[in-house]
Order: sequence, then C-alpha cells, then structure tokens
Amino acid sequence: MTASGFPDITPELRATMPKLRGRLLANESLAPLTWFRVGGPAQVLFTPADEDDLAYFLKHLPRELPVYVVGVGSNLIVRDGGISGVVIRLSPRAFGEVSAEGDSVVAGTAALDKRVAEAAASANIGGLEFYFGIPGTIGGALRMNAGAYGTQIGSYVTEVKVYRSAPRKIEILRGDQISFEYRHTSFAPDDMMLAVTLSLPSKPYKEILQGIRICNEKRRASQPMGQKSAGCIFKNPPGASAGRMIDELGLKGLSVGDARVSDRHANFFINAGRASAHDMLTLITDVRERVEKTYGIRLENEVMVWSA
Ligand code: EPU
Repeated sequence: MTASGFPDITPELRATMPKLRGRLLANESLAPLTWFRVGGPAQVLFTPADEDDLAYFLKHLPRELPVYVVGVGSNLIVRDGGISGVVIRLSPRAFGEVSAEGDSVVAGTAALDKRVAEAAASANIGGLEFYFGIPGTIGGALRMNAGAYGTQIGSYVTEVKVYRSAPRKIEILRGDQISFEYRHTSFAPDDMMLAVTLSLPSKPYKEILQGIRICNEKRRASQPMGQKSAGCIFKNPPGASAGRMIDELGLKGLSVGDARVSDRHANFFINAGRASAHDMLTLITDVRERVEKTYGIRLENEVMVWSA
C-alpha cells in the first residue's frame, strides 16, 4: 500500500463491466464496516445491486484478484494495512430477504441473525431463540457454524445457495453435503454463501419468547453488551474454556493501547476507544502466549483476521 492507499483499479474494472449497477469504491475504509471499528481500507469495495449484478461482476473480475466477503463485520479484524483485492459487501437490502413458513425459514445471508430469529418466532418456528442476541448476519453464522446455549446453526441447515469460484457458478448444496463442527464448516474459503434454508421445530410463540428471554438474561449476566467487541476471540479448546483460563490468569482488564480484555468475560476483547488493529492483534498474541505458557494449550482464533 502506498501513502495514498492501494493503486486504484476501479477505472479498469468499470471499463470491462459496463453494465455494472452496484457501488464500486477504491480505497474505502473497512473500519466502519466492522464491530471493532479498526483496520485499513479495501483496495476495491463492491456492493452488488442484486444477485445478477454480483454474478456479472464475478464473471468479469480478473481471476488473480483475491475476493473477500463482509456482512456486518461482527467477528472480523481487518489489519491496519488494509486488504488488497476486492471486498464484497452483501447489503441486507439486496441479500437479506427472510421468509418463514411451515417448519422452514429461508434467509438471504446478509439478513441479521436477530431478524431471522424474529421472522421464525412470528411464524411459530422455534430453535433460533439463541440467535436473538447475536449481532451478526446469518451468512457469518453459517460460515463459522455459530452457536450458543447448546444449539448451533448447522443442526438446522437443509440447503445453502453458494457461489463457488472453481468453476465460477452458483450451486445448491444440501445440508448433508456440508460438515458442521464446533465453530467450523467444510465451506471452501472462497465460497460465497447467498441464501440458506433451515428446517426447524414448530413451537408456540409464547414458548419462543420465554426461550429468548432466558438466553438474553444469561448473556447479559456473563457477556459485555453494547461495546465494540467481536464475541469470543478464541475458540474453546476441547474440554476447556478459553474465558476461564484467561480469567484465572488474572488478565481481565489487560490492555494494549485501547484494546482491552473485557472485565466481564475474559474471552471478549473490547476496543475501549481508539484502538488500532495492531493493538487488538498484539493483545490477542500476548494472551495466547500467556495461556500457552501456563496451560500448555495453544488457543485458536475464533475471530477472523484479514491481512493484505
Ligand atoms: N468463565 C470464567 N471467567 C470468564 C468467562 C467465563 O470463569 O471471564 C467461566 C464461566 O463461569 C463458565 C465457563 O467459563 O464456567 C464457560 O463460560 P461461558 O458459559 O460464558 O461460556 P464460554 O465457553 O465462554 C461459549 C461460546 C459463546 C456462547 C456461550 C454460551 C465459544 C468460544 N464461546 O462461551 O459464544 O455465547 O458459550 O453458550 O464457544 C462466541 O462464539 O463468540 C460466543 C460468544
């Protein structure tokens, strides 16, 4: 990256894509698109107008350019140097439609988890109560098989519409063609999920509300709310709790600049002001090393890190 950012390749891209309708921006800061509010720009940020526009863009995009997808950035750290290549932002308006009927919910991957849970609840469909308080999109949840309070999204997936890069085309995957493990899925890194169908149990609305209330109370009692965080930073290692280990080491409140280990839950890190991505990543490395030194366990990131 030069002092003025990455080379602006948007004029060349536009020239090869005269029918493009979405928004194509050069050197656009990604920090406002993430919950941590840290990190540098995308060389190109593209917001497709709709699915056809996305397919047109990808068809004409030079193959050598790396492609990344961002939803609401609730589990993402972009490095301060930014990202060379193309970042695609799937907007809720174009990719966030949700419908719920019978025992199934169909959602565009840019739909917020909360919206999907609400749509399910109002159709007397249960199972997604735990999603009510998760601040991400259903696409992000799908990518990492997000879960809480004993449930994870993978258990309910019957179909995923995915744009695959080799060869470039849209495919419909059945749930049993995808493996869902703890905070891990078998999607390829460059698979772009566009929509998901979930099959869920029917449940009376009142019971669903009660479930939502219980999850929210548990969350409020143990996790920081309304702060710039990314949920848990580390995955729990088999049979152990990352949060408990970090807490036992007395690391709550440990800071690098404005990057801080939450006082409430030690596996949540906070941008308490003007932290940089470097501050966040230094804190993550520091905590990982301290845990490894004492417990002999190397914590794996749950948070996604993008570097140039
Ligand atoms: N604990 C501490 N100190 C802390 C945090 C936790 O001692 O600072 C202890 C708790 O008292 C408890 C144990 O560690 O005995 C486990 O803590 P908690 O119940 O909060 O669950 P967790 O394992 O830390 C996981 C998920 C959360 C999910 C909750 C509830 C991971 C990495 N985290 O947290 O998911 O909300 O269970 O089901 O699997 C996320 O993935 O981003 C996330 C927030």
